[in-house]
Amino acid sequence: MIVERVRLDNFRNYSHADVEFAPGNNLLTGTNAQGKSNLLEAVYLLAHLKSHRAGRMRDLVKNGEKESAVSGRFLDSGRSFTLKLAFGPTGRKVELNGQPQGSGGRSRGLVQCVMFSPDDPLLVKGEPSLRRDFLDETCEALGPVEAGLPADYARVLRQRNALLKGWEGGARFEEAMGPWDEALVRAAVPLVRMRFEIAGETAVMAADAYTGIAGGEKRLELSYRSTFGGPGEDVREMELSMRQRIEERREEEKRAKTTLVGPHRDDVEIRLGGSDARLTASQGEQRSIAFCMRIAQREYLSSETDREPILLLDDVFSELDEMRRKRVLDLVARGSQAIITTTEDLRGLLGGEERIIEVSEGTAKVV
Ligand SMILES: Nc1ncnc2c1ncn2[C@@H]1O[C@H](COP(=O)(O)OP(=O)(O)OP(=O)(O)O)[C@@H](O)[C@H]1O
Ligand SMILES: [Mg+2]
Repeated sequence: MIVERVRLDNFRNYSHADVEFAPGNNLLTGTNAQGKSNLLEAVYLLAHLKSHRAGRMRDLVKNGEKESAVSGRFLDSGRSFTLKLAFGPTGRKVELNGQPQGSGGRSRGLVQCVMFSPDDPLLVKGEPSLRRDFLDETCEALGPVEAGLPADYARVLRQRNALLKGWEGGARFEEAMGPWDEALVRAAVPLVRMRFEIAGETAVMAADAYTGIAGGEKRLELSYRSTFGGPGEDVREMELSMRQRIEERREEEKRAKTTLVGPHRDDVEIRLGGSDARLTASQGEQRSIAFCMRIAQREYLSSETDREPILLLDDVFSELDEMRRKRVLDLVARGSQAIITTTEDLRGLLGGEERIIEVSEGTAKVV
């Protein structure tokens, strides 16, 4: 899918802006703090109806103003639609083709995008939760059923943890936990199966992308590590092994007062050239790996949903040498649309097909 145009009113450092994007690569250029990331954030916002970096909608409203609106015109499989999100002290309103939408929820996911954010190199060395989020985000973009899996598990886990925390002794611990063990297993297994599948598929795509940008010396390997079960197991086998693991750790759980077995403890192992990338990857390698994970996410979602997400790349080039930059651009150009921010002059690397948009003090101009 493609974003053709974005309009901003009192959004971040923009008073009013109207930006037209082209199919293919769009480069947002400008010095620091001009509004490049803010413009990408606006596209992300229309896809998710929340920001990837601000917890509160009010941080998105231009300082000194009350209300803000972001709207975009999109093209999806030949059909054009307009989505608008307005927000302020009285809440938020969503309009699709000018028609108010009852609850925002139904409009979420109409726009599909994949974002590489400046924090993404942390996917390699940061907390396991970041890598789990990568898989869960992908899962949520697959469709309404898959979208519910991470949230369902999180809800059961919260309730089970509350019970463990409040347990004040007594002989009937196992009996009290029984229904919660079962609820946990039933919510965990479909999620873990989805994560195994996503990790397995994206691992192949990310490895190919990595070879494409770094050459063939070091192979990238991603593998999902679960507290129970393995990639080839069926539902019943997984349920059995999870129940068994819970049983084994019963006493430990009682002491820890928190759930010790389940997908909230899982991780994705990342190896580069056979070594643990968490311990050894250089800065350029971390950035390259994270980028390849996003490229794989785009490719996986395109093949599973028949809708190619818009690729948003925020500051992907810093720390990459000239050769990698060129190859990154080549890989990106294989998709139908990407919007890329950069503070650097990349003219030497470009093929001349790109749209260049200069961002300066809250204005954006095609040059
Ligand atoms: N609610 C807001 N109201 C007004 N200005 C804001 C608001 N939120 C952020 N800004 C400002 O917008 C400016 C541009 O931010 P943005 O993150 O888009 O910069 P950028 O062009 O991506 O810069 P960099 O190259 O450093 O990443 C910043 O100076 C920021 O302080
Ligand atoms: Mg920025």
